This record gives sequence, C-alpha cells and structure tokens, in this order.
Amino acid sequence: MAMVIDASRSPKTHEVFVKQYGRNIRIRGFLPWDQRLFTLDPVSLTHVMKHSNIYEKPWQSRDLITSLIGCGMLAAEGQVHKRQRRVATPAFSVQNMRALVPVVFAKGNELKDRWFSMIADAMTADAAESEKVAGAKIDVCHWVSRATFDVIGLAGFDYHFNAIQNETNDCTAWDVVKVYLPIIDVLFPSEKVLTVRRCHKVIERVAGRLIREKKTKISEAEKNGSTYQGKDLLSLLLKSNVAVDLPPQQRISDKDILHNINTFMFAGSDTSSLSITWTLLLLAKYPTIQTRLRKELLSISPAAPLESLTQEEVGSLYATIADLPYLENVVRESLRMIPPVHSSLRVATQDDDVPISSPVKLHMADGRAVEEMRSIRVSKGSFVHVPIEAFNLDREVWGPDGWQFNPDRWDNLPESVSSQPGLYNNILTFSAGPRSCIGMRFSIIEMKTFLYILLTNFVYSETTDKVGKANVVLTRPSRCLKWWDECDFCCSISFI
Ligand code: HEM
Repeated sequence: MAMVIDASRSPKTHEVFVKQYGRNIRIRGFLPWDQRLFTLDPVSLTHVMKHSNIYEKPWQSRDLITSLIGCGMLAAEGQVHKRQRRVATPAFSVQNMRALVPVVFAKGNELKDRWFSMIADAMTADAAESEKVAGAKIDVCHWVSRATFDVIGLAGFDYHFNAIQNETNDCTAWDVVKVYLPIIDVLFPSEKVLTVRRCHKVIERVAGRLIREKKTKISEAEKNGSTYQGKDLLSLLLKSNVAVDLPPQQRISDKDILHNINTFMFAGSDTSSLSITWTLLLLAKYPTIQTRLRKELLSISPAAPLESLTQEEVGSLYATIADLPYLENVVRESLRMIPPVHSSLRVATQDDDVPISSPVKLHMADGRAVEEMRSIRVSKGSFVHVPIEAFNLDREVWGPDGWQFNPDRWDNLPESVSSQPGLYNNILTFSAGPRSCIGMRFSIIEMKTFLYILLTNFVYSETTDKVGKANVVLTRPSRCLKWWDECDFCCSISFI
C-alpha cells in the first residue's frame, strides 16, 4: 500500500508491478485481511466504475466525509445518492456554468491585484533586489487556494468569504486511527473535533438562513409570474428540487441540499486550486512551454481592462479563451500528469466476476498452468484500488514519453489511448462512470480563467526549493526532503 500511494514513487511502482505481475494484482491494505484488487486493466476498471451499485465507497471514507461535511454526493450511496445527483445535475449544465464565469474572472483579477501589491511590498523592502528584477517569492498554492475558496463561496451560495483579503490550518496518523475507531472522538473529543462541531453549528445556522431566504425569493418570483434569477448553485439546486417535472418522491430535503453545498465547497475548491498550482509549477519547470502559452494568451486583446468589462464582454472573452488550442492542450496535459485525486477506493458489496482484457493462466507452485481465466473473482467485502494517476501515466498506453510534460501530445495521440476509461479526454482525473465528478466543467472554467489572468500578468520560475508531491487526501506540492535520486517526481520531472 505504502508504495502504491506514495506519490513521490508511485509511477515507478505501478510500472514495476505491471511488468512483474500483470495488470490485475492483489495487494494488501492496512491489515492482513484487507485484500485489495489493484487494477490497471481498462476493461476491469470500467466494469468496477460502471457498476456503482456493486462497488460502493467504503464505510471508512464515507463516515469521515460525513463527519466533516455531511452526507452529500461524495459520501451518499444507493437511492439517496441517486436522488441527490438527479437534483444537482441541471445546476451543472453548460449554460449554468457559463453564467458563473464573471464570478471566476472577478476573483482571478482580485488575486492578480493582491500579487501585484505583494510584489510591490517585496521590492520596497529589498531595494537591492528591485534593481535586478521586479518579482517576489510567492506561495502560489496558498494564494490560489484562497482564491478558489472565494469562488466557490460566491458560486456555491452567493457568500463572500473574502479569503484573498483576510489571511489566517492539518491530518496526523492519530486522525487516521480515528477513522477506524470513531468512538475515540466521542469519548475524548480533541480541540479539532470541538472546532469541527462548532463549525457545523455555524454552517447550519448561516446556510439554514440562506436556504430560507432563497426559498422566499423563488416563491415570490413564482407568485409574480417570473423566475428567480439567482445563478449560484444553491439557488439552482433549490429550483431544480421544486421543478414540476420532478416526481415528489425524487425530491431531496433541505438538509441534503445543505450537505451538498458543503460537498461542493470541499470537493471543488482545493482540487481546482491544486490543478492551477501544479500547472503553474510545470510551466515554471518548462519555460519554453510557458513562453509559448503566454504568447497565445497575450494574443487576445480584451475590449477594456478586465475590471471594467461588462458581464457579456467577460462571457465572450471567456468563449475566446476556451477555444485557444494550446491552452486546451496545456490544461489536458497538466490534469493528466498530476491528478489532484491520486487514487480512490471501492468495496465490493457482493461477490462479483470482474472481466479482464486478456485471459490469464493460473499456475501451480511448480509452474504448471492449470486454468485459463477470463475474469477475476472479487469476493464481497474486498476493496478495489482505483489508481487514477497510474492510468494517466501508463507508458504502455501514452507512449515512452508518458511521464513527460508534453502538451503537444494531444494533437497526435497513440491509438491505445482511446480505450482508456475517464470522464475527461480518456484520463481518469475526474474519475469515470456514475460517480464521476459533477464539477468537471466548472473546474475547467476556473483553470482556464485563472491561467489566463495569472499568465498574462506574471512570469513564473522555480525557487531554489525542490518541490515534490505529497498525498495528503489530495496530491499537494510540498518541499521535497528526499535525497536527490530518491524522489521519482522531482528527479524524473527535472531531468526530462
Ligand atoms: C480539478 C478539479 C477537480 C478534480 C480533479 C475533481 C476530481 C473528482 C474525482 C476524482 C471524483 C471522484 C471521487 C471518488 O470516486 O472517490 C470527484 C467527485 C466529485 N466532485 Fe470533483 N473534482 C474537481 C472539481 C470539482 C468541483 C469544482 C466540484 C463542484 C463544484 C466538484 C464536485 C464533485 C462532487 C460533488 C463529486 C461526487 C460525485 C458523485 O459521487 O456523484 N468537483 N471529483
């Protein structure tokens, strides 16, 4: 397990496993009876992801998510999940997502202004530096994550967190133990648990009020023969939940709506900010690609400075940005190279036969082949490891340069890519099947908009720190403390 989930060496581990044992392997989880199927076989994985009624999320992760953000779409299973997803799907339509573009632009712009002022401060503080080059060392991850949190506050429920303006946060081994023994939190609530409980109360109070206010606006508009025009996800969910074509038994409670807004905040802000951060890091590591992308982005000339554009002008500017071919390739390539969700987990709720792409022979200990198998038996209660990153970096599929950041590959993909599972361009970054990411379109808007604003205003280069990948729920950049040749990520990526 440690080898499989350690982001600094997982690409090499995956490749060695496949070479030595094939595309379907049994690995051991945390405990001896925790047997897991690790599959890099597109046929097997597609089967698992498609049959979400058989392969559910394990209770451990569902309980953890529920205790933090409630039982929204990320944690719910069965009919509860189906109902929630049905009500939420219209809110994420192309049209509704495009309506959120001005909010994303406004926050990208605010971040740009904040960085300009930080650079100005750094230059005044260090007059000697200012003579060299106008620049500053900025913790990109920290700041972009504050900006995407602001975006989801406004886009999610029309709420101003103002995180870019007000600055003021961690998982330990003990936290992991508590996932398996939740009674510890009940008997000995720690400071963190008490904080989470206090936050729940505040969220319930504030969000409860927001839900009541929005419902009043929706029914008042109805009485006047019009429709409430709120564009945030909360308004859209509330409207979708009362739509006349939705049978009453398919509607969800206010509590479910609240849990899903929480879920969007949790699932949608860090993931997006990490993809933006990783893209900027990759561009810093590959200056020629950065220069080429900046040239493409700078070739667009907005009608006026961004802050004075009308909503329509912002919409049409975004439409132009969305169509830029090199930006599209860079976004795809970055999402392929470093998926913020490194891997996921499912548990079989019944015995099942998982199909495999090519038959395997079972061998006796003395090497005699005894049987040819066309499927693998997964018994009830077994886990299936979903190796998102491994699918994206599989060199037998993507070609020998599959570990390199090469946006041009998207203009000429190998044939083998077309059979890879994935919601987005045959990569698994947004997962696949009925439980795949509902916010994919939203995050692409965020990525392209932020990259446009941040790359047309600044140039990025690495600092002297070595940045590695660390899996802390999501794949995050961290100062790499490994020796130079121990970390596959820093080493492979810097030497390409
Ligand atoms: C780059 C950004 C993002 C990435 C890489 C990403 C990735 C993923 C992945 C891999 C899953 C499946 C999780 C699993 O099976 O364990 C997922 C599910 C989900 N994502 Fe995203 N996500 C992103 C942005 C967003 C945004 C912006 C939102 C909402 C505003 C969002 C909302 C959700 C929800 C609600 C689910 C659960 C869907 C379900 O189970 O029906 N995500 N995402």
